[in-house]
Amino acid sequence: MRPRRAGPSTTAVHGVPHRRPDWAPVAPAIQQSSTFVSPVGSGEEILYSRYGNNPNQVALARKYALLEGAEDAIFVASGMGATALAHLAVLRPGDHLISSRWIYGGTQQLFDEELSRFGIEITYVAPDQPRLWRRSVRKATRAIFVETPTNPLMRIVDLVPISHTAREFGLALLVDATFASPINFRPLEHGADVAITSATKYLNGHSDVIAGAVAGSAAFVEEVTRLMRLWGQAIDPHAAWLVDRGMRTLALRMQRHNANGMAVAQWAEGHKAFSRVHYPGLPSHPDHAHAQAVLDGYGGMVGLELAGGPRAAERLLQRVKLVTHAPSLAGVETLVSEPRLTSHKRLTAEARAELGIPDGFLRLSCGIEDAEDIIADLEEALGR
Ligand SMILES: Cc1ncc(COP(=O)(O)O)c(C=O)c1O
Repeated sequence: MRPRRAGPSTTAVHGVPHRRPDWAPVAPAIQQSSTFVSPVGSGEEILYSRYGNNPNQVALARKYALLEGAEDAIFVASGMGATALAHLAVLRPGDHLISSRWIYGGTQQLFDEELSRFGIEITYVAPDQPRLWRRSVRKATRAIFVETPTNPLMRIVDLVPISHTAREFGLALLVDATFASPINFRPLEHGADVAITSATKYLNGHSDVIAGAVAGSAAFVEEVTRLMRLWGQAIDPHAAWLVDRGMRTLALRMQRHNANGMAVAQWAEGHKAFSRVHYPGLPSHPDHAHAQAVLDGYGGMVGLELAGGPRAAERLLQRVKLVTHAPSLAGVETLVSEPRLTSHKRLTAEARAELGIPDGFLRLSCGIEDAEDIIADLEEALGR
């Protein structure tokens, strides 16, 4: 009889549920050791934490692979590290990458400034023109990169047509789904070959760790592991332990992030201080129907356009108390940031406006506080 597959909440707590031996610690021990005793004369692989084979690193990777429905996974020192190694694993000098235009600023910088140094050319495609994916394929194209949900407009990109193009031309489809977490969306179920996540965000969830992960086939993860060892990108065992601890409440936290995101978005949509609210759970969102079909939850990220523009946004930021003005996202505490000064700083105001991110746009990451308290704080900050 095949063993029953545990649900995502159980997996996030236990990995593979197993009976603990007598006197075993219920919480996993931290193996805060760079190296391990080697049996004399053994030809087996040595245990060394830069190799990613420390027990904390291994257990964490297994758990994440199960949540993504992947054959294997590996954690590295940051989300950027995960994106960089995933691309180095599938691209060679002279290759061509097709990337969504709607991506995190750091990722775009990595592509423009670093991949280009390896002679890798990049074509950017706006996902609202899906015919361009196929049209952009060249002889040298090896991979397609997509981020969904996107930052900060929370657009939900349809992966199915993109994965058809990837299959037709034998390309790898890499998807950064950091904003969803594997509780809300699993890219591999929608035709992606590789899932990338900044574990700094929802996986860890407590704003106290920088980490990243990739999940995919065993062969792909083996190649990323090889690169991770050589480029020195392994996650520290203590950071791995902290991410594992965070993941034990991932499913529960996502329920609250989802509920709070929806409550705040609905409130904001009815408030005259906001000219537009971007949340895929709202019928007014351009991808609402698609989001309903593919997401298991709409998440805690809400885009807010202040009717009074950047001055009104700054006034709000100066007056909030519970809501904290800080970059990053997906922690237990509600954070707010201005894309014009953070993720989209490199663009001109006109270029941002063209992307749908006018100055006066705030990105809210709803935490797991009581929704009424988040709303009351924003309401008070907007008041006279
Ligand atoms: C969608 C997305 N991917 C990747 C990253 C990079 O993650 P990290 O800061 O852990 O390197 C970020 C960071 O904000 C992000 O928003």
